[in-house]
Formats: sequence, C-alpha cells, structure tokens
Amino acid sequence: MATLMLQGMTRKDSAHISPSAHYTGFVWFRHGLSEPAFASDFGRFAHRVLAPISWAAKRAFGLDIERFLLQRHLLIDARLVQAIEQGGVTQVVEIACGLSPRGRRMRKRFPHITYVEADLPDMAASKRELLRVQGWLGAQHRVEAVDILAEEGPLSLASLFAGLDRTKPVVVITEGLLNYFERPVVERFWRALAAQLRGFSQATYLTELYPDLTEHPRYRQLRWGVWLIGKLTRGGYPLHYQSEAAIADAGKECGFREVRVLDPDRQPAELNLPRGELASLVRIVEARL
Ligand SMILES: C[S@@+](CC[C@H](N)C(=O)[O-])C[C@H]1O[C@@H](n2cnc3c(N)ncnc32)[C@H](O)[C@@H]1O
Repeated sequence: MATLMLQGMTRKDSAHISPSAHYTGFVWFRHGLSEPAFASDFGRFAHRVLAPISWAAKRAFGLDIERFLLQRHLLIDARLVQAIEQGGVTQVVEIACGLSPRGRRMRKRFPHITYVEADLPDMAASKRELLRVQGWLGAQHRVEAVDILAEEGPLSLASLFAGLDRTKPVVVITEGLLNYFERPVVERFWRALAAQLRGFSQATYLTELYPDLTEHPRYRQLRWGVWLIGKLTRGGYPLHYQSEAAIADAGKECGFREVRVLDPDRQPAELNLPRGELASLVRIVEARL
C-alpha cells in the first residue's frame, strides 16, 4: 500500500539521517551501555573519523559532545525506569530507535514489559536482524517500520500503535530525532502522536530537544557545531525554542496536557549524569496526556 507523506516530503527526506544512528550506537557501547552486537563497524569508523573534531570542540570551547549525548540518554533512561517502577508502565515504544541498546537493557531489567522499537524500514530491518541473531527478538520485544512523516499507510503512527493494548499505560520515546526537522514538522508529529496517545488509559512521551539557547556562553560555537552536524548528515540541524517555557507551551498547543522540561544539570546527583564546566545544551521533555 502506498504511504501518504507529509506535504512536500518523500521518504528520501529523512533517510539521510539513518547513518548517524551508527555513531550514537557506538557512543553508547563505548560508555558501557550496550553489548558488542550494537557497535557496528561503520559506527566505530565514524567515531574514529570524528574524534579529532570532538577533541578540538572540547579543548577549544569546553563543548563535550559525548557528555551531551550521555546526559540525554541517561536522563531518558531514568525517567523511563521511574515510569515502569512507579507508574506501572508495561508498554514502551521507542521511535527512531537506531542502534540504541535501551530496549535490550530495559527488557533484561524488566522482563514483564513489552518493548516495541521502530525506525525507517531499512534501519528497522537491520535492528530486527540484530535482535534475532542474538536471540532477543520475540512477541515482547519487536521492531516495526515507521516513518514519522507518513500520515497514512503501513508506516504511519496509526499502524504502529494498532498492535498495542490501549487499556494499559504506555511510554513513547524519541531520541536523536527531532532536531533533524524544522519546527512545523516537529509540531505536526507531536500533534499526530498526541492524537494516537489519547486512546490509551495513560500515556507519557519522552524526548530530548536541543533548544536555541542564545544566552549560552558558547552559543556561537554551538551554531558552528550544529552547522557541522547538518553537513555531516546531509541535512540540517535546526535548534528549536528559546526557552523551557516555550517548549512546554508548544507541547500543550500540540495536545499534551502536562509538559515538564528537564535540564540535566538540575537533576539529582544520584542520577550520576555527567557534568561539565559548561551549562548543558540539551533538555529532556516529559509530556503526558
Ligand atoms: C541520530 S539517530 C538516533 C538513534 C537512536 N535513537 C540513538 O539515540 O542512538 C536518528 C534515527 O532516526 C531515524 N529516523 C530518521 N528519520 C526518521 C523518520 N522519518 N521516522 C522514523 N525514524 C527516523 C534514523 O533512521 C535513525 O535511526
């Protein structure tokens, strides 16, 4: 069946983003967050090629790229664990999963949950094969194809959520996805997601967002950094919203009832989030319906 895409967009519009999943997948592995199966040769290669840039950004401007990545990943983990342990969540959907090991880690720790990973068809097929070869794939840990730009058809959000139990609470995650898109696309996705989640007894959406923090002491260098990410991924990397309040307002406009914006620097020390000299550039959004 044909897939109806957001106006003016084709599948090619975001397929260029997929290689970046190998880089982050290798970062998670490097920091002890995953098993060797998640570290691809391409991820290792990309990490080696980009190492001088990361080193220079850290030395010259104090911008530690891996620290920002770890802050986002670990804080999303912490909020998810809280939702499972204290919120009774038994269903998790991770969109744009790439080579993230979170599904595997969560299923190991909480065998009673159902974890659905989802990504563009090619990346979903690779992830499914990875899990199958390791013997981790099953009814409670599966991988589906999705395209957040698809409004209808087999890759749409409606198809992705069709297989879930709406009487049970669900957490949806997107990580490393939103800032590849312009704000109208992000907000259309948020609206479509909120519409899907409305049918569940309880739903939480976790994501990270890199805001346009014009007051950040390294703002100019940051602009240079996001320009570089855009070039490397052959797309763009626009920063969205100039304050936490603006993020929360946008989330509510799109249909979420309650939106919390978390700054990793202001989280309790026991979370052991990596801290640095510079204020964090990333925010975690926790939106509920
Ligand atoms: C930077 S990677 C992040 C992967 C993983 N979440 C992580 O943090 O390691 C971005 C991911 O978004 C996926 N992606 C890109 N466009 C997408 C779309 N339109 N719908 C769903 N996933 C998409 C890519 O295939 C890729 O796996």
